[in-house]
Order: sequence, then C-alpha cells, then structure tokens
Amino acid sequence: MIPLRRMKFLLFLASQMAIFILFILVYSHNDNSLQVKEEPKSPHMHVLVLSSWRSGSSFVGQLFGQHPDVFYLMEPAWHVWMTFTQSTAQRLHMAVRDLIRAVFLCDMSVFDAYMNPGPRKQSSLFQWDGSRALCSPPACNLFPRDKIIPQAHCRILCHKQPFKVVEEACRTYSHVVLKEVRFFNLQVLYPLLRDPSLNLHIVHLVRDPRAVFRSRERTTNELEIDSHIVMGQHRQKLKKEDQPYYAMQVICQSQLEIFKAVQSLPKALRQRYLLVRYEDLVRDPLGQTARMYEYVGLKFLPRLQTWVHNITRGKGMGKHAFHTNARNALNVSQAWRWSLPYKKVFRLQKVCRNTMNLLGYHLVTSDQEQKNLSLDLLSTWSPYELVYQEG
Ligand SMILES: *[C@@H]1O[C@H](CO)[C@@H](O)[C@H](O)[C@H]1NC(C)=O
Ligand SMILES: *[C@@H]1O[C@H](CO)[C@@H](O)[C@H](O)[C@H]1NC(C)=O
Ligand SMILES: *[C@@H]1O[C@H](CO)[C@@H](O)[C@H](O)[C@H]1NC(C)=O
Repeated sequence: MIPLRRMKFLLFLASQMAIFILFILVYSHNDNSLQVKEEPKSPHMHVLVLSSWRSGSSFVGQLFGQHPDVFYLMEPAWHVWMTFTQSTAQRLHMAVRDLIRAVFLCDMSVFDAYMNPGPRKQSSLFQWDGSRALCSPPACNLFPRDKIIPQAHCRILCHKQPFKVVEEACRTYSHVVLKEVRFFNLQVLYPLLRDPSLNLHIVHLVRDPRAVFRSRERTTNELEIDSHIVMGQHRQKLKKEDQPYYAMQVICQSQLEIFKAVQSLPKALRQRYLLVRYEDLVRDPLGQTARMYEYVGLKFLPRLQTWVHNITRGKGMGKHAFHTNARNALNVSQAWRWSLPYKKVFRLQKVCRNTMNLLGYHLVTSDQEQKNLSLDLLSTWSPYELVYQEG
C-alpha cells in the first residue's frame, strides 16, 4: 500500500500537471506568436507615467503594459525607497532618477544596489507579474506575446525565470513604459528630457485630491512606509491626525509644481508632456486611451479596443482594473462625496486649493453642495489644451 503522505504528494503532483497542461492547451493555439519579433523599426520611445498613490496609475500602466510593443514596469523605484526607509523623498530623488534612466535603457544591473546578492529571479522585481512583457517571450515562453495575459496565470507559470530575462526582454521592444509615484518635481527629470540617448515622454496622471484622500484613508497601513518618506522629518512635529493632511499637502504641491514647470519649458519639450485627469479617463476610457496611445506613437489595435471596452465594463481583468461597469466606475470616482465628512473635505481643500483650481476640480462650499450629485465638480475646460495653447 502507498503511504498516505506519498499519496498526498502524488495527488499534488498530478494536480500541478493538470494545471500546467490546461494552460498549454489554453495558450498554445497560436504558435506563430510565440516567436520573438525582429528588431522594431520605429525609434525607441521612453514613457514615464508620472502620478501619485491611489490615482489610477496601475490602471493606466496596464493600458500601456498590455500593448504588444511595450515593455512595462510598475514602480521600479519602489526598490530604492524600500532600501532607504528612513530617508526622505528629496534625498532619494536622484537615485530614483538614475534608476529610471538605466531601466529605460534596459540596463537592469542598476538593481544590484537594491536587491540581495546572489542568484535572483525575475520575480525579485516588485510587481513583476503586472508586466505582460515578463510573461511572454523572450522572458517566458508559456504565453504568446500578443495576448492579454492574466496576472495570476503569469505568476504561477513564469516566476522561476532568471533575472537576466528582464533585460533580454526589454531589448526587444520599441517602447519602454515605467510608472512612478516617487517624483515630486519636474526639475529632477530635466537631465532625462535633454538626454540624447532617451526619447522621454511624460504622461502626468492626476486625480481629484478628495478622492485620493479617501482612498488613502482606506489603505493607510499599506502606505505607511511611503507616507513616512513623503512627510520626511516634518512628520515628528505633527499630531497623528494631522499627518494625512500634511502628506496630501506635499503631494498636491508637487502636482502643482510639475504642472507649472511644464509651462516654462521650451516648446519642443512641452510637447513631451501630456496631462491626463483620471476622471476624464473614467468618463471616456476609449477616447482617453486613444489620446495617450497617439501621443506616444502606439497603434490602438482593434483587440485592445475591445479589451479596454470590456474591462471598463466589468469583463475580465478582475480586481486589477476597474472591476465595475463604466457607470459604477464613475460612481466610485465620486464616492468621496457621500463617504467623506464635509469637515475633512473643507480641511483638505484648504491645503490643496491651488492645485484643484489649476487642474479643474471645483471646490465645494457646504455639505449640501458636496452631496448634491447634480453638481458636476469637474471643470469642462481641458488643462492640457491650456498647456499647448499658451505660446
Ligand atoms: C470581450 O468580451 C467578450 C464577451 O465577454 C469576449 O468574448 C471577448 O473575448 C473579450 N475580448 C477581449 C479582448 O477581452
Ligand atoms: C453610487 O453608489 C452609492 C453608494 O453605494 C449609491 O447609494 C448610489 O445610488 C450609487 N449611484 C449610482 C448613480 O449608481
Ligand atoms: C443641486 O444642484 C442643482 C444644480 O446646481 C440645483 O439646481 C439644485 O437645486 C441643487 N439641489 C439641492 C438639494 O441643493
């Protein structure tokens, strides 16, 4: 008789085999797409999705990352911050900038400074499985390159790949897109905008600070280390209940400075900047995605259009995208209006007023106004048009 323990082990093995075969069956009907594309002819494009926490940047990252011409990484500078948790955002700025530059150029040796020595896997990278490029050839041969790949499937099947495939994969793409929430001014990026080896384009994603505040309240623990770094030494002088407002003040101020700094750039550089409001994206996902793709020279392939249509209506992708239908996403983007007490909104508006005025988020002056959903608080003028028209 087979001992029970071995029996369990054999059953485990059999179930793993079954899962594996299932994946092969699901994904193997398109063998041609398993081949690596030849060197792309278009010039390289380096796109920085510049945003803040809880502002929809993971969603925007996915919009880019699922495109077959894009090598995408989410928050590579997380590794810098988590190595220096007692530091401040300002002190880490240059290290973050230099890391971003190296990654844009597919030089992944830069991570040596922030990872443990010894053999590593591609799964050592923060949120690696959110990158379709790391789930398809040449990084991982189990999925075709031109399919939408669910994160959970990739995590199971591609996590054993060695770290060197990250660099190999990166070099086969025309576009490298990085998402970062760890920049607090534009000046730190000037050297990259001028760098002749880079073709940097910035997508600046902003969201109504009141919605951000509410979302941050619900993820306080997850954001604790980051928030400490954002507040720096100033945190020790603050009472605990004042800290969230101070963190938002820093974030609003930096959004404002970035937006303002763009206006004083030479015209040629100003065209390397695109402002996207999350609320506009929620109201018109296809239109805004088309706008972002066009800006960075990506074709909005028909199957990607269907995919964007699907995920913004609650099909596929699960909790890693909108996971509600478009009407609900709109509703969710307004949730602060009935769930945040006016007292908090009032206080937050005081520290974020200038940013809100500039980005087109109307202030509310009473609890009644806040709860009155027939009042549209998003200004219809488009801040990005302002950027292009002024001179
Ligand atoms: C979109 O949804 C439809 C219906 O559920 C499905 O048949 C189709 O495969 C989906 N397409 C993509 C690209 O996700
Ligand atoms: C939005 O959500 C809130 C809370 O869940 C609900 O009370 C409200 O009826 C919803 N509104 C719409 C238009 O769906
Ligand atoms: C809500 O706002 C609309 C549009 O400004 C206004 O006509 C209406 O009277 C307001 N309702 C309440 C209850 O204040």
